[in-house]
Amino acid sequence: MRRNMRITWKFLQKFSLERTRSLLMSTRPIHVLDDNVVKMSTISPPPECLFKPMNFPHKVLMGPGPSNCPPRVLGANALPLLGHLHPEFTLIMDEVKAGIKYIFQTNNEWTVCVSGSGHAAMETACLNLLEPGDTALVGINGLWGERFADMVDRQGIDVKKLQRPMGEVFTHDEIEEALKKHKPALLFLTHGESSGSTLQPLEGVGTLCHKYNCLLLVDSVAACGGVPMFMDKWGIDCLYTGAQKVLSSPPGASPISFSERAKEKIKKRATRVRSFNFDMNHLANYWGCDGEARRYHHTGPISNIYAIREGLARLAEQGLEESWKMHKQCAELLHEGLEKIGLELLVKNKSIRNPCVTAVKVPDGVDWKAVTEYAMKTYRVEIAGGLGALAGKIWRIGVMGYNCTPDNIRLVLRALEEGLKMTGYSKL
Ligand SMILES: Cc1ncc(COP(=O)(O)O)c(C=O)c1O
Repeated sequence: MRRNMRITWKFLQKFSLERTRSLLMSTRPIHVLDDNVVKMSTISPPPECLFKPMNFPHKVLMGPGPSNCPPRVLGANALPLLGHLHPEFTLIMDEVKAGIKYIFQTNNEWTVCVSGSGHAAMETACLNLLEPGDTALVGINGLWGERFADMVDRQGIDVKKLQRPMGEVFTHDEIEEALKKHKPALLFLTHGESSGSTLQPLEGVGTLCHKYNCLLLVDSVAACGGVPMFMDKWGIDCLYTGAQKVLSSPPGASPISFSERAKEKIKKRATRVRSFNFDMNHLANYWGCDGEARRYHHTGPISNIYAIREGLARLAEQGLEESWKMHKQCAELLHEGLEKIGLELLVKNKSIRNPCVTAVKVPDGVDWKAVTEYAMKTYRVEIAGGLGALAGKIWRIGVMGYNCTPDNIRLVLRALEEGLKMTGYSKL
């Protein structure tokens, strides 16, 4: 202890000597201000880039997200702030909850927005639904299963992987076999895989999970609102989505909902949730889901909540069935157009294609990046490349929410066709 104190004292002496020396050697003078406050000469100057106007090009975002926000959403985002516990603001939070219940088709009490992008909702599910001693079964057919498995592993919780190549989905039989074998507390599945562009069939999976005393967690960040979703009817125990896809709102507030079964598991945990920020016991109170007076937990992303409220209102006005129909029609228009210009879709089976994100194979010898650069330079249209094992091998086209229009599909097709011609692709 004494030795430690001597070391600390020596360190302090050395530190202050060096600090004094650097101040003395400083070439700039120390200014004495009028009010006798000494301004240190070592202050860095303000960054020059902030004195220039922000560079802001308008782009048509037809990648896997974000999608463009309609003016009413942008307008809401620019409204003046209210306090995060003011009654007018908590009323807006209640309206957001009602909107989430509608798009998820659920009556779950624990329905909130997590502050943060889709990853924050993903982490909330992981941290609350699992604890040491549990096993999680993770369906991996693209990036999102891999990410979730990583999140589970970081908590020191046992992960079992159910794997399929990108572009394929899981069958009920293989899910049941894995449930029998691993006896997991939780099964994770991605509804709309944005890296492999598949749509995982979910009907019946909840019943299967419950038969084996397992909770079903579904990531529908890149699908919800654009395809049918019936959280309660399908027995999904935890479901989350993102703001910046079909809801066409800025990222930063992510809808999530927990079934009674999931809530009970969280309430009966033997250990505390390993995150204060994402602890659903706190978030449920802040979102007025527990019948108690709302307490300060954190400052909610006020502007994002305004914006997602309008994104949800837009979808409610359109109606879920109309939105699902529009996404299907626009996706079909896109798929036909792609095939007409000689391109091949990654997912052959039409019934498992995610209409919100389409993966298109890059033909042999074509420089995928040159084509996306052409689209951006000529039309300011974003078309994305592939991820992981499919990097360089596919393009990904997003058709979501406000961007889901036949005009946007025609624009993407024109940009792709011209881009391909420009690279010398001969099949056109
Ligand atoms: C299926 C899926 N899950 C999760 C995420 C993560 O969302 P975010 O980027 O908003 O954190 C994404 C983002 O593209 C996604 O497509």
